[in-house]
Amino acid sequence: MVAVLSNSHRTDTDRQDNRVVLVVNPAFLQEIKDSNPDFGRSLHQLRQVCECREEPRQVAIRIVRLLDELRDHLAMQFALEECYGYMEVPADASRGNTALAETARAEHCSLYLELSEMVERAEEYQYRGIAVANLQQLIQATRQFDARLQEHERTENELIEGSFSAY
Ligand SMILES: [Fe+2]
Repeated sequence: MVAVLSNSHRTDTDRQDNRVVLVVNPAFLQEIKDSNPDFGRSLHQLRQVCECREEPRQVAIRIVRLLDELRDHLAMQFALEECYGYMEVPADASRGNTALAETARAEHCSLYLELSEMVERAEEYQYRGIAVANLQQLIQATRQFDARLQEHERTENELIEGSFSAY
């Protein structure tokens, strides 16, 4: 029993000694954000379509296409950010906000899943013949998604600025 406790204690200590935490690589994360104009363009066009007053079926067709495009660009953007914009460092070497970095990285998955569900719903509406109420619902969901995405971008910008000023 003593041996077990002793081993257990040593394992915990080792784990603590080797503890790593997540931080952003500010230069790379900024570079990725500055190097993906397609992502920003899709988002901008989607916002414009949500404001337009064209015939509902035409608006729906454009929204479906733009949501689909945005999903591709978002997947690429998030994959690059996770590969090069985030990194694990020893806990004692970290000067960044590691909890916020964990939160921001985890948002990639939930944002991507949310957008994917919207794309599927929009395609289904288009296939079945969209009603005006469906279109309003889709526009509302798109705006809410956009707000969450902007909040995510603000968080990552805060992480970038915090990391630059910490060194
Ligand atoms: Fe991100």
